[in-house]
Amino acid sequence: MTESQPTAIVFDGVSKSFGSKQVLQEVSFSVMQGETVCLLGRSGTGKSVTLKLLIGLLRPDIGKVLIGQDNISSLEGDDLSRLRRKMGFLFQSAALFDSATLEENLALPLRRLTDKSKSEIEHAVLRALAEVGLAADRYKMPGELSGGMKKRAGLARALVLEPEILLVDEPSSGLDRITASEIDDLLLEQKAKRRTTIVIVTHDVHGARRVGDRFAVLDKARLVAFDTLQCLENHESKTVRTLVGGQ
Ligand SMILES: Nc1ncnc2c1ncn2[C@@H]1O[C@H](COP(=O)(O)OP(=O)(O)OP(=O)(O)O)[C@@H](O)[C@H]1O
Ligand SMILES: [Mg+2]
Repeated sequence: MTESQPTAIVFDGVSKSFGSKQVLQEVSFSVMQGETVCLLGRSGTGKSVTLKLLIGLLRPDIGKVLIGQDNISSLEGDDLSRLRRKMGFLFQSAALFDSATLEENLALPLRRLTDKSKSEIEHAVLRALAEVGLAADRYKMPGELSGGMKKRAGLARALVLEPEILLVDEPSSGLDRITASEIDDLLLEQKAKRRTTIVIVTHDVHGARRVGDRFAVLDKARLVAFDTLQCLENHESKTVRTLVGGQ
């Protein structure tokens, strides 16, 4: 990735606290269009908070979050919805609606955020489900799915709007090695086929090394590293080296 490529995401001097707890302190980084960045760090270091700031579910106390040219934290209503349409989000918990079938779960964002017809929606939903290998399960309720299927369903829902930016929070946690690498394959395919900009939070070093172009490491509220694998494997901080699976 070269710096001359257009920027998809800018995190500019972002600080965020909850009560007296400072979760992020002056965090700055940018992600190029089509780049995949893996966000690493110990539990509770603010990785999920970072993704929620990116999608505008949380607002920074200080600093800015730019998606393309837009400062997402200054947008509201229709403007915020329009910007969010460019982004797909897979929550850490998959967060499907338990009382709706898989098909309905995927149709919902299309109905709410696009003016697609009923048949266009059905087509898009089926295609997204097929991409993650769940087409045959379209009428199932989330409660009938295994953990890995739920993750894939959550990913299908994040992809159904064909987002320019995909944000995924621990897509492979709790999954076996094979299922996890299938999820990584899907992410790699998105990247290759659609040049989707991707930010992944993960504890899975093996997967991260496969899909990541650059790696961001959070520690004690600070961004302590943001670079390619090659550079981070030899980083001065042991925490960084361990998180990227170096020596
Ligand atoms: N809405 C909130 N209100 C108050 N505190 C919060 C909120 N969201 C997150 N926090 C706190 O912010 C810190 C970072 O949380 P976050 O969920 O970002 O961690 P994480 O890096 O994703 O951890 P994990 O790897 O366990 O998922 C935690 O101490 C958490 O309790
Ligand atoms: Mg988290």
